[in-house]
Amino acid sequence: MTAKIIDGKEIAHKVRKNIAKEVEILKAKKITPGLAVILVGNNQASRAYVTMKEKACKELGMYSLLLEYPEDLGQDELLSKIEELNQDKSIHGILVQLPLPKQINEMAVIEAISPEKDVDGFHPINIGRMMTGQDAFYPCTPYGIMVMLEHIGYDVAGKHAVIVGRSNIVGKPSGQLFLNKNATVTYCHSRTTDLAYHTKQADILVAAVGIRNLITAEHVKPGAVVIDVGMNRDDEGKLCGDVDFDAVKNIASYITPVPKGVGPMTITMLLFNTLKSAKKIHEKELQALNC
Ligand code: GUN
Repeated sequence: MTAKIIDGKEIAHKVRKNIAKEVEILKAKKITPGLAVILVGNNQASRAYVTMKEKACKELGMYSLLLEYPEDLGQDELLSKIEELNQDKSIHGILVQLPLPKQINEMAVIEAISPEKDVDGFHPINIGRMMTGQDAFYPCTPYGIMVMLEHIGYDVAGKHAVIVGRSNIVGKPSGQLFLNKNATVTYCHSRTTDLAYHTKQADILVAAVGIRNLITAEHVKPGAVVIDVGMNRDDEGKLCGDVDFDAVKNIASYITPVPKGVGPMTITMLLFNTLKSAKKIHEKELQALNC
């Protein structure tokens, strides 16, 4: 069997076209969705991600505000900037790019962002809402995975989803979104004994660890859907995921490549969340205009 490639770039393009249409409608009503992105320090990968987020935001007609700070920024200064953005009427989404320098407590920063503007979906209020099946901002990468599966017409209800990785950004919320859609969920992590035993049972296998070639042909059940969230570099410096793509593509039914897989979906769902926030914050005005 040769797996079908899930083209994240193409799906992202389709979703972005719909977002752009909605942005245009809002702008005609004098509402421009605005995203503030905060970058602290000189992490090159973070800078690259932030640049992509800003570019995508502008392409869709949204307002983008990039705030850059030096590596030695104090926590209090960052918290007061976030408070200012919480009050700023032109801003509907606030994102602080992680990781942060060690003098700053990440959880304190995440909790300082108003849950109504937390388009990353990292605030405990949004995580709690997601866990209890309420409306919430969902973390962008897990949400992007769900949208990709929807686009290929794959219903996860009753399926066994095995998540490798337990980060707050990807692993844990991915499992929760699968559970919300009635999948059976297993989490594997660095202390799991016999990883292959668990992953071989997966109908859907999500690899989100950051170890190149961690998932090989021996880890995959024939016909499984394999989602690769890894962002690693090979010996030649080329971007690659956590899955041995060339081997696993002969076993899986669907597989996401790296690059052009999950990555473009993450940014797309950030834009989706920013649009959703703008619609929610201006709900009353929009309702009045429709009357
Ligand atoms: N660092 C790596 N991924 C993310 C993300 O999705 N959001 C933020 N804020 N930081 C990240």
